[in-house]
Amino acid sequence: MTKKEVLLTGDRPTGKMHLGHYIGSFKNRVRMQNSGQYDPYIMIADTQALTDNARNPQKIKDSLIEVALDYLAVGLDPEKSTIFVQSQIPALHELTAYYLDLVSVARLERNPTVKAEIKQKGFGDSLPAGFLIYPVSQAADITAFKATTVPVGDDQAPMLEQTREIVRTFNHTYGVDTLVEPEAVLPPKGQGRLPGLDGNAKMSKSLGNAIYLSDSKEELTKKVMSMYTDPTHVRVEDPGHVEGNMVFTYLDIFDPDKEKVAQLKADYQKGGLGDVKIKRYLNEVLEKELAPIRERRAEFAKDKQAVYDMLEAGSKKANAIAEQTAKEVREAIGFNYFS
Ligand code: TRP
Repeated sequence: MTKKEVLLTGDRPTGKMHLGHYIGSFKNRVRMQNSGQYDPYIMIADTQALTDNARNPQKIKDSLIEVALDYLAVGLDPEKSTIFVQSQIPALHELTAYYLDLVSVARLERNPTVKAEIKQKGFGDSLPAGFLIYPVSQAADITAFKATTVPVGDDQAPMLEQTREIVRTFNHTYGVDTLVEPEAVLPPKGQGRLPGLDGNAKMSKSLGNAIYLSDSKEELTKKVMSMYTDPTHVRVEDPGHVEGNMVFTYLDIFDPDKEKVAQLKADYQKGGLGDVKIKRYLNEVLEKELAPIRERRAEFAKDKQAVYDMLEAGSKKANAIAEQTAKEVREAIGFNYFS
């Protein structure tokens, strides 16, 4: 039997997951899981979420179960994937401590994603040290499982670059090949980011422009009917624009019937096709995709204890693997005094 690639990825539990997460990440993750080519580890990154929520841990606690339900609803399967919770794996924190000594502060300050987040979150002088160093803890997450394959969004590419550097530095410094360099798997070009309902480049909770995997049928319809289309398309007879029109942007992504979309676009551009009509159609397309997810989610939500039990079992399994890597890392450094 050939050895499977080890897949690791994760999410910060700071809210429920939305359609942007689904299309940019979950769908592909489930596909990879079901291909049988990987040994997948899926981590709920509560410790990382704490780096900018230290004074509001309740938010993380509440979100943890929601994220777990979203995972199960989209088809992540604990029979095939090890789903676990970051804070429950002490070895990750130990590895972080060792790796921090191999990374300069200047290097951390250059990470473009962290830089942008610091600016966007407006930390000013109160930037938590833990936030600045979270890419190092992410390197611990990845290397603890000797992950080879890390499917992530485009914004995570710098984290993978930093992880690869840490792996090379560690192995070189201690003359070992203990750690494994991971490869990022980024979304196909143009598919990385789903814009929001309002046309904003990013779908996000804070912008209030998201469709959640847990939204009811009625909520979905209401949101679709409120979508940003073409402000110059005032009367039905007017010719309309499809570029930057969220209904067509979403149809391009979600409707498998490309011919139908092309026809609708042509009709809309010519004039005579109303916004209500195209919105109703998009609503049908999205409902078809989301209804089974919503139903599965409601089913799993009936027994939250079972979901916590699943996370506990996953964390136990993950812990044993991470602990083994930490042992090898201690040996590599020479901190194995008693064996
Ligand atoms: N930073 C990732 C996010 O913002 C979450 C994450 C934490 C992660 N550790 C990871 C992703 C390790 C991939 C690998 O969603």
